[in-house]
Amino acid sequence: MITVALAKGRLAQKAIEVLEKCGLGLDGLKVDTRKLVLYDDSGEYRFVFVKPSDVPTYVERGVADFGVVGKDTLLEADRDIYEMLDLKFGGCRMCVCGYPDSLEKAGGILRVGTKYEKIAREYFGARGKTVDIIKLNGSVELGPVIGLSDIIVDIVESGKTLEANGLTVLEEVCDCSARLVVNRVSLKTNDRLLELIDKIKENIG
Ligand code: PRP
Repeated sequence: MITVALAKGRLAQKAIEVLEKCGLGLDGLKVDTRKLVLYDDSGEYRFVFVKPSDVPTYVERGVADFGVVGKDTLLEADRDIYEMLDLKFGGCRMCVCGYPDSLEKAGGILRVGTKYEKIAREYFGARGKTVDIIKLNGSVELGPVIGLSDIIVDIVESGKTLEANGLTVLEEVCDCSARLVVNRVSLKTNDRLLELIDKIKENIG
């Protein structure tokens, strides 16, 4: 049995499509259910659906042999797991955003609203800037709009959320996309897993 941890939401559907191209029968994953553990047609693969930020934890602890998660979540989690493949979907940019004049206008220490505390701290730290990181769990764009923060560090996909709130990209931190992450022990001991990873490699863009 190979266990796969999938990030609930945007990336899961695309990950399922790639695995189907690799020959897995995954109709059982498309039913509308509140079950958190589902199986492929053969019963050889078990899928767990978890919050994106928990995927690296399941894989590091070995309860999942591999998982699919965004590079943004992976950088923030900083876990002891193998990042095997860039799956080339779920592309977005990690950016510093705000009003066009936010950086000039902010007096004193910059207040940065973000879900990505570690990424933001490292980004500004590397530039020798002392910042006040305000950890948020969502709707980060609200920070500058309502005056909670001067700027934000967040992912930008279509740019529509920024646009709708009058904000813009000020600096780019890095590109992000979905990654295949693998447990260290599973990688060394599970030949079927290696075969599947090879097939995934053949089936990504
Ligand atoms: C993410 C991100 C931005 C938005 C960017 O939020 O934090 O808010 O998507 O996408 P866009 O550039 O296509 O508009 P998410 O939808 O995950 O919700 P959240 O704000 O609750 O985290």
